[in-house]
Amino acid sequence: MSKIKTVYQCQSCGHVSPKWLGKCPDCGAWSSFSEERQAPKSLRSPGAQGASAEALPLSQVSGGREKRRLIGIKELDRVLGGGLVDGAIILIGGDPGIGKSTLILQALAKISETSGTVLYVSGEESPEQIKLRAERLSINSDSIILLPETLVENIIEVSRDMKPTALVIDSIQTIFTGDLSSAPGSVGQIRESAAKLMIYAKKSQVPVFLIGHVTKEGAIAGPRVLEHIVDTVLYFEGDRGHPYRILRTVKNRFGSTNEIGVFEMTDNGLGEIDNPSELFLSERPVDVSGSAVIASMEGTRPLLVEVQALVSPTTFGMPRRTSMGVDFNRVNLLIAVLEKKAGLQLGGMDVFTNIVGGLKVVEPASDLGIIAAIVSSFRETPVGQKTCLFGEVGLSGEVRAVAQGETRLKEAAKIGFKQVIVPKNTADRLKTDFGLTITGVKNVEEAIEHIRR
Ligand code: TYD
Ligand code: MG
Repeated sequence: MSKIKTVYQCQSCGHVSPKWLGKCPDCGAWSSFSEERQAPKSLRSPGAQGASAEALPLSQVSGGREKRRLIGIKELDRVLGGGLVDGAIILIGGDPGIGKSTLILQALAKISETSGTVLYVSGEESPEQIKLRAERLSINSDSIILLPETLVENIIEVSRDMKPTALVIDSIQTIFTGDLSSAPGSVGQIRESAAKLMIYAKKSQVPVFLIGHVTKEGAIAGPRVLEHIVDTVLYFEGDRGHPYRILRTVKNRFGSTNEIGVFEMTDNGLGEIDNPSELFLSERPVDVSGSAVIASMEGTRPLLVEVQALVSPTTFGMPRRTSMGVDFNRVNLLIAVLEKKAGLQLGGMDVFTNIVGGLKVVEPASDLGIIAAIVSSFRETPVGQKTCLFGEVGLSGEVRAVAQGETRLKEAAKIGFKQVIVPKNTADRLKTDFGLTITGVKNVEEAIEHIRR
């Protein structure tokens, strides 16, 4: 009989060591090692498709598009790349309490309406608790089967007999495989359980959703191992203080990444938001300094968002710089550009910036908008109510062209904006102006001239 080997595994990245270590040499995490029993060789997962593989020339591989099915929740279908693919394994991650179980239950209700039985495995909540949530969402169906089970082998067996249209595991951290002796939630367990589910999904062509909790550091526990295994990774984000929730594609083998779906958490579930730009601008104050609108893009989707800045004299020695929803370092860089290239005396000023609605804007095209908000607050002059901006700002104060200029302009025109300040290069290349007054600017100084009205 072979000896059972004990190894130590980093719980944050999966690094394996024969000895306990204080610091993980791979990801640098401290005290992240825990003891696990190594799985015997025969339990290692076979090839990605679960069947014995055969070598083939590419030209002989039978083609054909993956089979897709629309779920019926537009925002969810969008982030999945146009519907649910058969046999896909999808990870939905997010903070506890953000609404993952709500979203998945609503999706299951839709799927079961059109395509038949679905299986909802919950290791966290009892069927009674799920029933309570379903009542709140006005969902009642014979085709949603609840299974309170945590052993992955049993889950797969039940699913094999039932042949559901979709299988949901809520959450992956609660289930375990009998092959390993470590506790549920450890990296080894998560990886082995997910691998087994993956093999099952590919073999049976049943789409599988895995729900995963995000740790305090913002990573799904055992994330690296899981992100490799699954086909699609979606993050459900949002600010607890705001009703808006954003479902973001982080990885997708069946579609583009960086897509977003926008939802609103209401008293009876998640509502879809068809036109997020209108919503995010609906409470914009009129003629107040320190507010500007950015025409940004989220994947293929234009999104107009309001950025606010507050510039006020520092009361303590060190000026304070705070930013929410935009990158802190990026804002500092833009402040430095404003000081050096546009001569704004911001050295003795606190600068606070915020994206309204708890949103996050990461693309460089937001630079011009952030600058406009800061300048507007500094000079106490509002940016025109019907003006929006986009453009990347370089370190020498130049304004650079960004991608998808026309899509942004079209959205601005649709929402009712009249003037758009854009990089000169973008303005020169436009074929149509969408009925807008388009101002092309070469550098920050020019941009500031125009936002002064
Ligand atoms: P839940 O889906 O349980 O979150 P997760 O599975 O991500 O942990 O939802 C959590 C929150 O959503 C909870 O605090 C209550 C709120 N909620 C509503 O506001 N309206 C609703 O209709 C439902 C079902 C939940
Ligand atoms: Mg939940």
